[in-house]
Amino acid sequence: MQKNNPYDKIAAVYDFPLMQYVYWWEHKRALFDLQPVIGPCARILDIGCATGKFAKKLRGAHPHINVTLLDASANMIERSKKACPFAKALCKKFLHAHLPQKSYDLITIIDALYCLENPKKAIETCAQLLALYGYLYIIAPQSENFLHKILIAYTKLFPTEKTSVHIPAKEIECTAKESGLLLIKKYKKYGQWFLLFQKH
Ligand SMILES: C[S@@+](CC[C@H](N)C(=O)[O-])C[C@H]1O[C@@H](n2cnc3c(N)ncnc32)[C@H](O)[C@@H]1O
Repeated sequence: MQKNNPYDKIAAVYDFPLMQYVYWWEHKRALFDLQPVIGPCARILDIGCATGKFAKKLRGAHPHINVTLLDASANMIERSKKACPFAKALCKKFLHAHLPQKSYDLITIIDALYCLENPKKAIETCAQLLALYGYLYIIAPQSENFLHKILIAYTKLFPTEKTSVHIPAKEIECTAKESGLLLIKKYKKYGQWFLLFQKH
């Protein structure tokens, strides 16, 4: 577990409506995109789950799914445990988590890929963790867009974003393809890319 994780400091205010405004839209889109690909007892890993808001909504829509939550911030994980008592919650940095290979039917990374130290390595690791025909769903900022580059430069002033590593959607796709993940769906909305891959 990382001590003094900058996300620990904002966990208490993370669920405030102003903070959740953007996520509300993203979660709505994600629920819609994932509806057709989630089997009744799917094993799901939510990386960078924050307070567990998304997993709670997902479980509301799919009552028999088996959810694992992972976040590097202890305070976020404490909150996610309260929001999602049905889930297994892990307080770890994803690339140090040593999770079992070929064990998940769906991995979601909602607005957290840039937090994972090495986004390409994170995608390669996800490919190893997915069962055959399992899905990887990523929502990531349109970092190749000029206005977003300015916005990202600004967000780097905040402790939570200081070490963020943004890669363009093309690079996400390329890494996923090299890792055996087939692109199923891709579109942009609200300044974000929405990407769905399937393992083959
Ligand atoms: C912007 S928030 C993600 C939002 C969340 N997915 C949602 O839908 O509400 C980024 C999260 O990633 C977590 N995080 C940062 N570095 C991480 C790492 N190396 N491994 C796992 N989680 C990490 C942070 O603690 C934070 O909760």
